[in-house]
Amino acid sequence: MNMPQDLPTAFRWPAKTNHVPKEIFDRPDIYQLELERIFYGPEWHPVATVSEVPKPGDFKTFNLAEVPLLVVHGEDGQVRVFYNTCTHRGTLLETKFCGHKTEFECPYHRWLFDSTGTLRGAPGTDEFAPSFRMEDFGLQQLRSEIFAGLVFVTMSDRTPALEPWLGRIGPAVDMALSGGRLDLLGYQKVVYDSNWKAYVDNDGYHPPLLHSAFKLLGWQGGVGKQYGTENGHMVIEAELKVPQDNGFLHDPSLIEFRGRDTTGSVALVINPITVITRHLDMINVRLAFPRAVNKTEVHYLYFSQHGDDEEMARHRLRQSANMLGPCGMVSMEDASIFHRIHIGNHTPGNAIFQKGVHDEHSIWYDFKQNDESGNLPRWEYYRQVMGFERA
Ligand code: FES
Repeated sequence: MNMPQDLPTAFRWPAKTNHVPKEIFDRPDIYQLELERIFYGPEWHPVATVSEVPKPGDFKTFNLAEVPLLVVHGEDGQVRVFYNTCTHRGTLLETKFCGHKTEFECPYHRWLFDSTGTLRGAPGTDEFAPSFRMEDFGLQQLRSEIFAGLVFVTMSDRTPALEPWLGRIGPAVDMALSGGRLDLLGYQKVVYDSNWKAYVDNDGYHPPLLHSAFKLLGWQGGVGKQYGTENGHMVIEAELKVPQDNGFLHDPSLIEFRGRDTTGSVALVINPITVITRHLDMINVRLAFPRAVNKTEVHYLYFSQHGDDEEMARHRLRQSANMLGPCGMVSMEDASIFHRIHIGNHTPGNAIFQKGVHDEHSIWYDFKQNDESGNLPRWEYYRQVMGFERA
C-alpha cells in the first residue's frame, strides 16, 4: 500500500467542537490518510457475521477498504479471516462473493489451500527455491475476534482486545443481535455516491424531519437517549413507537409489530462505519467500506432469530427490506441525502452541528435521543486519530 506518512499540509481543524470542515469529505490526500490510520490502523472492523458462514466450508469475500479478504468456516469448525491472495505470487485467490468449498485453488500455478488456510499442494516443488517449505506458505491470516456473531478483523498488532474496544456499547450490540443467535435472511448491496463519513454521520435528529414514512405513518420517535464512547461508537436507544397506518399503505401488515423479543428500538454505529438497527421486528446490520473518496459500498444484512418459524422469518425479511433496505421507505431518502451532502461539501467552510450543543468547546458522551450532538464524540476521535490540530 502506497500511503502518505505525513499530514496533509496547511490543514487545521476548527477550534469549535461542533464545527467539521467540509473539505475532509472530498480531499484525496485525506482519504489516503484515512485508509492508513483508520481502516488499516488499530481499529476493529466487522466484515461478516457467523450466520453467513454457518457450516464448515462456507466462505465469503469482503474488501476492507482496498484490501481483499476471505472469511472461511474451516473444516475444523473455526471461522478465520485471511488475506484473499495466493501466497505464491499474489493472485486474487477467490473471486466469488460467497459459496461453499473445502479447497481454494489458485488458477495461476494451481497452488491448493484447504479451508484452514494450509497449503496442501503446489506443482513442481522439486524445482522450487532451496528454502521453500509448504508449511511456510499457508494463507496469511488476520487477527480476528467474534462478538455477538459479528466477525471483526484488524490489520494492526496495536489494536486492543475487542471487548474493551467496544466499551459501553457492548451490551447494546449483544442485545441488538440476540447474542449472535441469528440466521441470515437476505443480503443486498448498494454503492452510494458519497464519501464514507457522510454515510455514517447519521443522527437522531433527522428521521422525523427527513423521512416521509415517519410522517405518513405517524411514526415519530419515542423517548430515549444517545450515548457515545471516546473511540467514536454511538448508540441511539428509544422507546418503541409503532407506526400507524393512515391509509397510506395498501397492506398495513408491512408495519405490524409482532414484538416477541424487544420492547425498544436501537440504532448504533460501531466506529468507523458499521451500522446496526433493531426496530419493530427488523434485525439489520449494514457492513460498509469506502471504495474511493466519493464512493461508499454498503451491504445490508437481514436476520431472523433462532426459533422463528417460517412465517415470522418471512415477516422479518419483508419488513426489513421494505423499511430499512437500500430502497426501503426510510433508507431511500438517506441515499439521496448522502449524495446531496457530498455535492454540497464541494464548497468552503464547515458543517456546523446545532441541536443539543450546549458547549462549543468540549466533548461529552450522553445525549437526548433527537440530538445531533451525539455525533460529536466520533468527530473528535476522528480528529485525534488523523492528527489534525485545532486552529
Ligand atoms: Fe497462485 Fe502462482 S500465483 S499459484
